[in-house]
Amino acid sequence: MSRGTSHLLTALLVVVEVAMGYPSRRSATDLDATPRTTVTFDELSDVRHFSTRTLNYSTLLLEDERGVLYVGARGAIFALNSSDVTDGSHRTIHWEASPEKRMDCLQKGKNNKTECFNHVRFLQRLNSTHLYACGTYAFHPLCAAIDADRFTLPAHFEEGKEKCPYDPARGYTGLIVDGGLYTATRYEFRSLPDIRRNLYQRPLKTEESPLHWLNDAEFVASVLVRESKDSPVGDDDKIYYFFTERAGEETTSFFDKSQVARVARVARVCKSDVGGKKILQRKWTSFMKARLVCYIPYYEVLRSVCSLDEGGWASTVFYAAFTLSAQWRTMEASAVCRYSISGVQHAFEGPYMEYQDSARKWSRYDGAVPEPRPGSCITDRSRRKGYNSSQDLPNSVLDFVKLHPLMFEEVKPAGGEPLLVKKNVAYSQLAVDRVRALDGRSYDVLFMGTGDGWIHKAVVVGSSIHIVEEVQVFKDPQPVESLVISHAQRSLYVGAASGILQVPLASCARYASCYDCILARDPYCAWDGSVCRATATADSTRLVQDIQSGNEGCRSTFGRTGSLPWKNRTVLQGDDVLLPCDQRSNLARAVWLLNGSEALAAGQEGLRVGVDGLLVTDTLPRHSGEYRCYGEERGLRTLLATYSLTVLAEMPRSPTVATLPPAASYAAGDVNVAYISAIVALVVLCSLLSAGLLYMSCLEKRKGKYVLGEPRPSSVELQTVSANCLRKGHHREEDEEEEEEGSAYPDGCLRIIPGEAPTAATSPVKELPVAVPPLPPPPPLPAELTNGVGALPNVLRKMNGNSYMLLQQQDEPLASPLYSTSFTEELNKMLEKRKHTQLVEKLDESSV
Ligand SMILES: *[C@@H]1O[C@H](CO)[C@@H](O)[C@H](O)[C@H]1NC(C)=O
Ligand SMILES: *[C@@H]1O[C@H](CO)[C@@H](O)[C@H](O)[C@H]1NC(C)=O
Ligand SMILES: *[C@@H]1O[C@H](CO)[C@@H](O)[C@H](O)[C@H]1NC(C)=O
Ligand SMILES: *[C@@H]1O[C@H](CO)[C@@H](O)[C@H](O)[C@H]1NC(C)=O
Ligand SMILES: *[C@@H]1O[C@H](CO)[C@@H](O)[C@H](O)[C@H]1NC(C)=O
Ligand SMILES: *[C@@H]1O[C@H](CO)[C@@H](O)[C@H](O)[C@H]1NC(C)=O
Repeated sequence: MSRGTSHLLTALLVVVEVAMGYPSRRSATDLDATPRTTVTFDELSDVRHFSTRTLNYSTLLLEDERGVLYVGARGAIFALNSSDVTDGSHRTIHWEASPEKRMDCLQKGKNNKTECFNHVRFLQRLNSTHLYACGTYAFHPLCAAIDADRFTLPAHFEEGKEKCPYDPARGYTGLIVDGGLYTATRYEFRSLPDIRRNLYQRPLKTEESPLHWLNDAEFVASVLVRESKDSPVGDDDKIYYFFTERAGEETTSFFDKSQVARVARVARVCKSDVGGKKILQRKWTSFMKARLVCYIPYYEVLRSVCSLDEGGWASTVFYAAFTLSAQWRTMEASAVCRYSISGVQHAFEGPYMEYQDSARKWSRYDGAVPEPRPGSCITDRSRRKGYNSSQDLPNSVLDFVKLHPLMFEEVKPAGGEPLLVKKNVAYSQLAVDRVRALDGRSYDVLFMGTGDGWIHKAVVVGSSIHIVEEVQVFKDPQPVESLVISHAQRSLYVGAASGILQVPLASCARYASCYDCILARDPYCAWDGSVCRATATADSTRLVQDIQSGNEGCRSTFGRTGSLPWKNRTVLQGDDVLLPCDQRSNLARAVWLLNGSEALAAGQEGLRVGVDGLLVTDTLPRHSGEYRCYGEERGLRTLLATYSLTVLAEMPRSPTVATLPPAASYAAGDVNVAYISAIVALVVLCSLLSAGLLYMSCLEKRKGKYVLGEPRPSSVELQTVSANCLRKGHHREEDEEEEEEGSAYPDGCLRIIPGEAPTAATSPVKELPVAVPPLPPPPPLPAELTNGVGALPNVLRKMNGNSYMLLQQQDEPLASPLYSTSFTEELNKMLEKRKHTQLVEKLDESSV
């Protein structure tokens, strides 16, 4: 996206915010959160992966107490052992569409590679012995009651066209509530979207009036709220529906005529509704809908909703994920909002909207409202007046309901603003868990699946969110289609096109130190004095945890007090040297100390601090000394690496073997310093070149990571900053390509092989197939994120690692991320400079 468009969007957002009266206290930058750690697929452990030749594992039903995870897939239903989905004990029901129906489907012009199958889209418990399942059956939906113990298909199927959509990709939601099957979707190709109740003595539907009821609705979720429980007014249970539909109520100047404004909605019906007697016969008499707003009204599409109700229905909260609507095809962003049930109820109890045919618009209805209140459930009060069921309701009420299902007030997020606005991410699924932390409070932990196979795990602290980690659970990018949490197994099940994953809710062992454990702010984990462990499995008296501020509980303010092994570096004056230091946390700032005290600050000549190391260019003897690298986060510093750098003014006569680390895998005995220095120089050169190439491959990987690398083996002492780009998260195709190219760099890291150095020395540039790769355009800068000096380091990290940012660049004021150069640019400039140094003695600094 061009900067211009970006500005336009920002401007638009402001206009929309002002015009619509959604003053957000925090800007998009403040609402963005960087995942603290990044775990790529290759670094994952503890994950169980179930897959067969079947595809589309989209429908999950967890029965925790029975220890079974049922999975509806394409042409099959599986029963997996929830304690280990891969234990081989799974049972399978093959339920393929018949060849005749597939033929029909093909003749209807449907896709026989994706659509003309039986996609199981509904799978829930019907009664103590049976499950109920519906499949699209190649555009002839069928349903079946399945004996859960025998786990076979019944002899007779039920017609599914009133219960299940024909189209496997259509938005759909369904629930079985007290024997009634409540489904919402657009069932047939040309039919109107509809909320239906079946399997019940009185089937019900929505009124066929798109203008008033459901206008091209795409359903996302439905939630049962048992409001009858302990209700002082004798209220009814309600089913809430979440969807996106065509906006009818506003004619807005933000849209030209060709664009259709869509809005997110919450609607609800009462469980005891039986329809009207003459008016609204077999139709809902309790259907009401209200607008659901999160961050950018009209520009957001609802993707997923999950709910939580601990301690009674009145505490129910809904979490909803939105993505930018299709108008902003080139820009990806998500917002997450939280809504309270009282906020939703408030809208349903407020004024109604009315459509004025003459003016062709919706506006607030201020006229008389009949009694009992239209759209409300039957309560004690209405019963006292003789209205025992919806069939007893007066015509005036039902007539009113028919024309006024839309409420005037909109449902705003709790706290008035989103919990999170995240760029370059499209959340596709949400699941939420409530965890009691050691501080006695309960925290909501959100698991957010993305469109490309990652899970973001976040803890909600007050009105903001902290993303504990992002985990790449699928190697091949694919949308996370379903998420289910098991408390009994302390697992998260993830359904997607290629299979089912079982992931632990927490992998506390990933946090190696007390500081790491505390800073993670993972409510499932705490430090027990020696390891970070799951709170559920440990005696809580000795544990430390700090969810609120994430920095208290460990003994000293300096992370690791013990010493790290010193790594020695010896270079010849004028050479460049990289001292690698990986920040495990994307939120940490690298702090380097020279000789124990002197902080290496911005503006120091020849020093560049990046997210995974310190680059010393044009070394001088005064650069010698002891370098310590710390990660600083929330006021805590952790020692990560220590180096002893020696810069030689000239080649010494006798070779100094000690300059090489003992761990080095190559024999150093008779290699002299000149040789080493030559290698250093050349390897740096080669590295720069290959880094350029690698950068390209990293760019390919659109989902860049914040940290370029994990700590590398110490035997690889001198390598490029981005040598590990290749190792991490690259595409399979690239993998294969590399193998074909003869595995020049077996694991993506350059190694120093002394015997080969002279070859490289003759012409290091020609050694590589591409001397200087053409530079890709720098990634566009998110305009709404470029707002200041203070936010800079975080902003840089938020650029998804596509560019290596020099956080402390000399000469230039860090007024805007625009000034930060991408690593490739930097490398190329340095390369240029290198070329010049051979000819020109003194380089003009301004050219850098
Ligand atoms: C099923 O999986 C295939 C292969 O990944 C994908 O192309 C298709 O869109 C999926 N279909 C549905 C309905 O999820
Ligand atoms: C599931 O696995 C657990 C442990 O692996 C085992 O104890 C249990 O019996 C299994 N359950 C079923 C239904 O196979
Ligand atoms: C799908 O249809 C195409 C032609 O429309 C046909 O060539 C192909 O064999 C079909 N594939 C399957 C799996 O039936
Ligand atoms: C459960 O439902 C099935 C299908 O309707 C029925 O055959 C079975 O008898 C029911 N079981 C019980 C215990 O009600
Ligand atoms: C409503 O129920 C009460 C008690 O169950 C009954 O006395 C009354 O006649 C009923 N009213 C109507 C209109 O059916
Ligand atoms: C750091 O200490 C080393 C020797 O201990 C010394 O040679 C070097 O000049 C010192 N560097 C600075 C910048 O003080």
